[in-house]
Amino acid sequence: MTSANKPTKVTLTFDNGAPPIDLPILSGTLGNDVIDIRALGKHGVYTYDPGFLSTASCNSNITYIDGEKGLLYYRGYPIEQLAEHCDFLEVSYLLTYGELPNAIEKKQFTNTISTHTMLHDQLTNVFRGFRRDAHPMAVMVGVVGSMSAFYFNDMDVLNLEHREVSAHRLLAKLPTIAAWSYKYNMGQPFIYPQNHLTYAENFMHMMFATPCEKYEPNPVLAKAFEKILILHADHEQNASTSTVRLAGSSGANPFACIASGIASLWGPAHGGANEATLKMLEEIGDVSRIAEYIKRAKDKNDTFRLMGFGHRVYRNMDPRAAIMQKTCYEVLNELGLHDDPMFKLALELEKIALQDEYFVSRKLYPNVDFYSGIVMRAMGIPNSMFTAIFAMARTSGWIAQWSEMISEPEQKIGRPRQMYTGKLRRDFVPTSNR
Ligand code: SDX
Repeated sequence: MTSANKPTKVTLTFDNGAPPIDLPILSGTLGNDVIDIRALGKHGVYTYDPGFLSTASCNSNITYIDGEKGLLYYRGYPIEQLAEHCDFLEVSYLLTYGELPNAIEKKQFTNTISTHTMLHDQLTNVFRGFRRDAHPMAVMVGVVGSMSAFYFNDMDVLNLEHREVSAHRLLAKLPTIAAWSYKYNMGQPFIYPQNHLTYAENFMHMMFATPCEKYEPNPVLAKAFEKILILHADHEQNASTSTVRLAGSSGANPFACIASGIASLWGPAHGGANEATLKMLEEIGDVSRIAEYIKRAKDKNDTFRLMGFGHRVYRNMDPRAAIMQKTCYEVLNELGLHDDPMFKLALELEKIALQDEYFVSRKLYPNVDFYSGIVMRAMGIPNSMFTAIFAMARTSGWIAQWSEMISEPEQKIGRPRQMYTGKLRRDFVPTSNR
């Protein structure tokens, strides 16, 4: 639709003769126009959209997704170019400040983050409150939430400097918290961050080093890991980002908001899908059983879904899945795992699914979670840590979205309404008469 004949308003008419309501149509810089329905409330009319399939909850300058074409831009830069040329902290800077850093900005930002990676020593006691077999995501929700009890001197969310300090603390400390969640799970001692290492190298070192022997991160794997973090950094108004925004809209402190995002991301329909995808591949076990599972995925009476497939927005291949598949090849080749059975099974499953009318007609393609588990498993990362790593990366996007929400002039506390379908008014009945 050219801008010449684009509509500028829509008129709601009612079939009971109620006066029509004119609603303006707003345009962003890219993507769908939106009908501004804010005036509806005063006419006593609400819209109804469970799951927000057709609802824009905010305006944002951070990430753009074109679901039909399979495009993903961070601040206008295509994800393919950022994954190829940047490191994760560079992309985190871009998401928060809106521009790629120059050499001086990059050095300063990297130094700031590298010197905030340590945790308050008493935070180690929060870890020890958990059972050893607690899921790393349970530990991360708890430890990140408890940060507000340790770093409370910079929590005035309306103070830009405070927001920046808290954002830097979160970005810097999430890898330490994630890695220590794993070490605690394993019964191994915490390994402290090394400030001279890159973001990915530091995390891998904290995950795999022990006090008994040196650990040198493999540079190919570290670069692949940076790419994985970049691919997971932000993704518009997904469930966990919307959770962070809603929590933040009440003025809650940044640590509580990010903890709420981690909790939401954990769900298998969202960030938990990478762990669920690998469990599914392990359960399928062999290409000969793919047909059985495809049949189950199509069966409405079976709750089984093809994990790592489908997406609310993408009606084309998730561009991150394509990059992740390429990264799979790189990592498996580097590790001499050319014939990794899980990867071969995933490739075959993708091929068969994409030839099946059920998936084709519903435009269900592999999403970011389909291959990420295979790459991380090949790197020696256990299934239970996949979503923790997703949360670590997405903290960068959550911080940017949270800060954008607070600085939004139109910002209000998020408070949706409902369509009430419960009982009409009725009077109390004493127990003796029930
Ligand atoms: C992430 O939002 C984001 O941006 C999220 C994310 C991010 O970066 O933040 O991209 C990360 O969460 C990726 C998605 C990871 N989840 C999974 O891989 C879990 C498996 N996928 C599905 O559960 C599902 O596809 C969702 C949850 C991702 C999307 O669900 P929707 O948009 O609510 O779609 P739907 O459930 O209404 O499905 C539409 C149809 C239905 O069939 P019909 O009723 O039309 O007959 O497609 C079917 C569904 O049954 N369907 C699937 C399917 N996904 C959808 N059938 C089998 N297997 C699947 N995976």
